[in-house]
Amino acid sequence: MREIIKQVVYPYTKDLEAGHDFCHLERVDAIAQQLKKGLIVDDNYLLLLIYLHDIEDHKLKLNVKVKDLLDELKIDEITKAKVLSEIFDLSFSKYKTKDNLSIEAQIVSDADRIDAMGAIGVARAFSYGAINNRKFYGNDSTIKHFEEKLLVLDQYLYLDEARRIAKPRMEFLKQFYQEFMSEIQTEC
Ligand code: ADP
Ligand code: NI
Repeated sequence: MREIIKQVVYPYTKDLEAGHDFCHLERVDAIAQQLKKGLIVDDNYLLLLIYLHDIEDHKLKLNVKVKDLLDELKIDEITKAKVLSEIFDLSFSKYKTKDNLSIEAQIVSDADRIDAMGAIGVARAFSYGAINNRKFYGNDSTIKHFEEKLLVLDQYLYLDEARRIAKPRMEFLKQFYQEFMSEIQTEC
């Protein structure tokens, strides 16, 4: 199942901005596999959420719907309805946790947020900032995104194992932020 889903999603995601491309999906998959240890999960449902979670993110401007890809994958109606009812709650733009998410959705939400932390998180933020012509610092800059969202991202995790994996990545983010701010000596 994993290989089939990857084959379907790859053409749509391979050339996206580096922070949201196919490699992001593979990293979320790897983190999700760590998070699911000891939990009872529906593996196929988990894989669908992992590989389809960003497809309708308006920032990516993709010309395809999650529903179309589920059809292409010949997913049964029950699973399809389940995916479509939960997948749009996974976006972390809102940086909130929701009640009543399935364990699979909690895993994907946590894995997606963990991929926005640590060194990869720094790289993704500046990559996103660059394609949107953002300054490094100042009003509406990439470093503002750290202050508003990334530096508090660990408050919005569901699972204890996610908090454990997040810890060193959050420490790195905070250290990066402090060093970055200390190096700025001009107004600009
Ligand atoms: P989601 O698509 O899950 O809602 P986002 O698109 O908000 O999540 O974030 C995905 C990645 O893009 C993260 O690494 C995040 O840091 C980065 N990102 C999102 N918005 C900004 C921004 N305004 N400035 C810099 N990076 C951003
Ligand atoms: Ni994502």
